[in-house]
This record gives sequence, structure tokens and C-alpha cells, in this order.
Amino acid sequence: MSIAIIIPDRDNSGLKATLETLLPAGTTVEIYPGIADNTSVEMAVVWKHPHGCLRQFPNLQLIQSYGAGVEHLLRDQDLPTDIPVTRIVDTCLTDSMKKYIGMAVLAIHKRLDFYLQKQREKIWEAPEPVELDLRIGFLGLGELGAACAAYLHAMGFEVSGFSQSKKSCPGISCFSPEDLSLHRFVENVNVLVCLLPLTPATEGILSYTLLSRMPPGSYLINAGRGGHLVDQDLLRAMDEGIIAGAFLDVFHQEPLPHDHPFWSRTGIFITPHSASVTNPDSAASITAENYRRMKSCLPLLNRVKREKGY
Ligand code: NDP
Ligand code: OXD
Repeated sequence: MSIAIIIPDRDNSGLKATLETLLPAGTTVEIYPGIADNTSVEMAVVWKHPHGCLRQFPNLQLIQSYGAGVEHLLRDQDLPTDIPVTRIVDTCLTDSMKKYIGMAVLAIHKRLDFYLQKQREKIWEAPEPVELDLRIGFLGLGELGAACAAYLHAMGFEVSGFSQSKKSCPGISCFSPEDLSLHRFVENVNVLVCLLPLTPATEGILSYTLLSRMPPGSYLINAGRGGHLVDQDLLRAMDEGIIAGAFLDVFHQEPLPHDHPFWSRTGIFITPHSASVTNPDSAASITAENYRRMKSCLPLLNRVKREKGY
């Protein structure tokens, strides 16, 4: 019996070695496409796989995403419909995202862009005001959104959040479509943090229609997925002074093409989908535990609700 690692363009030898130490004797780990016997594969650990490839394994019983997001799997038209999908939920991933969002919010609050510009010009000058008064709104209060919201609240920021279903997070003003529309929600925030999953309902959600409801001089932080943002709409909102700056970690096409206008746009800060990266040791532990649960017919960790899309 075996587990297949299907993560193209990555050295998976460390993940394979760690996983092998955690699995029962007799279970092997193979790296796709070098699978010796397709019929032996019971579980696949997957990130951005070639669509259709999972059909090759007739005895596949479990698909483990190597990340928190699962749209890379659910968009595969040939994904077997009857096989459970699980994802990564992990304190390392969450802590790392807290630090990325914290970094971006502190950079906005303390006017880092102003100082970078002044330093380039060799000018000794402080901005007025030296700190911006921020009202931070999270789109998505799931594993990552709720933890990041609590982190910023603990730093003393005013934080609110919007999610599909109503949440209760200490110190955070929580809203859902039952309470108010998303458009009304963003009217009251001047930093919008997107930590949504990419689904048909959230694709293109960061549009001009939404951004234009924010107060002039607002900021956007997108660490969800590039597909949430309508790129031209962000540029338009920046041209019109609605959005003063953006921290973007995720893009429609990754790597971001060299000729994309975001690269040279003043006020846009780009990171290469590195806000929070899966820890291979955590992924190995979660995979081994889910393999054990699958074999014992126990409830799986972090099972995706396929009908919801996340
Ligand atoms: P979760 O599934 O735990 O949380 C998703 C949240 O989004 C939930 O609160 C959910 O609401 C809410 N939501 C979903 N659809 C809607 C909608 N249409 N309107 C309003 N709220 C909605 O996901 P995680 O927090 O674990 O991860 C979020 C995303 O972050 C991932 O899907 C991935 O795309 C991205 N990510 C990015 C990384 C990076 O490095 N840039 C790293 C890791 C993840 P409810 O709870 O009510 O269902
Ligand atoms: C994830 C990611 O979904 O890294 O885990 O984007």
C-alpha cells in the first residue's frame, strides 16, 4: 500500500523521508510521476497537480491538500467525486499568516511607505500624522482570518470581520450576510484583509464596486487568492484615491508576469505567495494521522465540505 506525493516542481524527498518515519511498516511513499504500481495508491498528497491525474489510481481513498486552500483540487473536472478531501490546518501556518498580516498592518499604521520614499530622497522628515488610525476588516473569519483578527485585536487595533455564517470572536465585531451586506461592512473599515477561500461565490469579490465603498485613502491586503481581486479595478480605485496602497501576496498568474502593472505601481507591495508556507513536517504529521484515521474508519482531520467549496 502506498501514499503518492503529487506536488510538481518541488523537491519532495524530505517530505517523503519524514512521512515514511511516521507511517506503519509496509506503507511506502512514492513521488509522482514515478509510481511503481498505480493500484497500490490509497492516499495522495496533492498541490497543483496535473488535472485528471488522480483518475489513474483505482484504489484511491483519500486526497490530502498540501495547503489550506483546496480550489486547486476542486477545480479539477476529473476529481473523483466520492473521495474525501482534507486540507492543512496547522499552528505553524496560522502563526506565519498572523505575522504577515501583522507586518502589513504595522507597515500601514506606521507609514513605512512614506519613510522608504524619504530615505530614497535622503530627506529627514516625519509624516503627518505619524500613525494612521486604522479600522481593520477581515473577509473570512476561518482558521486564518479569526486568528489574524485576534492577533491584531491583541495589538490594540479596532477589528471587525465578515464571514458566511455568524461568528463570535472575543473583541472582534463579527458580521455575516444576516446582519448586513458586504458593501455596508466595508464602508466602516479602512483596511480590508482578504482571507477567503476561492470559490465561485468569492471569485472577483474584490471588485471596484466593493472597493469604491471604502473611505478614501483605504488599504487592501490580499493573502487569499489572486482570483479574488479584479486587478484593473484595484488600479482604478488607486487612481481615484479610494485605495492608497495594497499588500498583495497572491495573483491570478503566479509568478506574476514581468509586464504586469502591479510590479511598478507605487503603493503596491508584492510578496511571491509566501505570506504563509506549509511546514513540511506539519504536513507529514497531518498526512500520517489522516492515513491512520482512514485505515481505522475514524473521522478525518480538516475534511473539506465539497458542497461549500472549502
Ligand atoms: P477556512 O475555510 O477556515 O475559512 C474560510 C472563511 O471564509 C470562513 O470564515 C468562511 O465562512 C468564509 N467564507 C467563505 N465563503 C464566503 C463568502 N462567500 N462570504 C463570506 N465569507 C465566506 O479557511 P482558512 O482560514 O484556513 O484559509 C483561507 C484561505 O487562505 C485559503 O482558502 C487560501 O486560499 C488562503 N491561504 C493563503 C496562504 C498564503 O500564503 N497566501 C496560505 C494559506 C491559505 P464560514 O466560516 O461561515 O463558512
Ligand atoms: C495554502 C497556500 O493554501 O499556501 O496553504 O496558499
